[in-house]
Amino acid sequence: MKVLGIETSCDETGVAVYDTGAGLLAHALYSQVAMHAEYGGVVPELASRDHVRKLLPLVHEVLGDAGLQVADLDGVAYTAGPGLVGALLVGAGTARALAWALDVPAVAVHHMEGHLLAPLLEDDPAGRPEPPFVALLVSGGHTQLVHVEGIGRYRLLGETLDDAAGEAFDKTAKLMGLPYPGGPRLAALAPQGREGAYRFPRPMTNRPGLDFSFSGLKTQVLTAWQESDRSDQARADIARGFEEAVVDTLAIKCERALDEAGCDTLVVAGGVGANERLRAKLGEMARRRGGRVAFPRPAFCTDNGAMIAFAGALRLQAGQHEGPEVRVTPRWDM
Ligand code: KG4
Ligand code: ZN
Repeated sequence: MKVLGIETSCDETGVAVYDTGAGLLAHALYSQVAMHAEYGGVVPELASRDHVRKLLPLVHEVLGDAGLQVADLDGVAYTAGPGLVGALLVGAGTARALAWALDVPAVAVHHMEGHLLAPLLEDDPAGRPEPPFVALLVSGGHTQLVHVEGIGRYRLLGETLDDAAGEAFDKTAKLMGLPYPGGPRLAALAPQGREGAYRFPRPMTNRPGLDFSFSGLKTQVLTAWQESDRSDQARADIARGFEEAVVDTLAIKCERALDEAGCDTLVVAGGVGANERLRAKLGEMARRRGGRVAFPRPAFCTDNGAMIAFAGALRLQAGQHEGPEVRVTPRWDM
């Protein structure tokens, strides 16, 4: 079964074809980051308009790369939420129109389920983690620990009470004057920081539970930055201290979640999963426990069409799809 996947929930237009027999056939991404940079953040209306411009050319490109005609498709999957309503509607409208014209099923995918299943997109099926496992979803909009008992069977173990981890990265970067998108820039700066120059608290780790809170950390960084000499070195030192605090906090809670769920395997997904310190720290923890941690390749940590094609293919295989109406769910619990 060959499934086209379409992702347009925010500022990346992602398209891919996943074949349930042969795996991922092709994928392409167009990022709007440069366009939004001028405004210091995503402008929803501009995002929708740009998806309109880029989506069909990307579908053509991906079908060409996969050596397929549009009529070869057996289904169309699209991100139906959560996300920006206008951006979601571009993907949903296009996907449904294509599915209707081709007389194939269309399937609505939850964006975070896409992220959650991205580590299962391994080229090498032997390297593929199988449920049950614990997933850490860390993106700009979410920080969640989920017990994945099976495909479609997800139990929320803990989540952030305020800012998401990626949001904390972005806001912290912004308050130290780094341009949008700040998270990866802050992470790139952190290795130039001196060890021990700043130590920030690891929020909510000294009491039981699996919830997170990152907004206090941001305030602490603001104070540290205002009291510093605001030099490049101070910025790098604070970036390092901040990154260490976030990564340690995530690692402590991941270990607790593995204990609580009785799992050996941790899967990490979402944009912050591209963070090198987080990858190293969780790898260390897994080795110490004799368990395993799986990350999607960095390109599939951030938003992409491949994860949507894959999640949609699994749903279609399970016989799930929707009626013909175009419907999106901007706020949607998994
Ligand atoms: O999953 P994603 O692409 O989009 C959604 O939020 O759905 O995640 C983007 C988030 C942003 O907040 C970005 O700052 C963060 O992931 N991010 C990083 C890194 N790369 C991306 N945060 C820390 N370190 C990175 N290397
Ligand atoms: Zn995402």
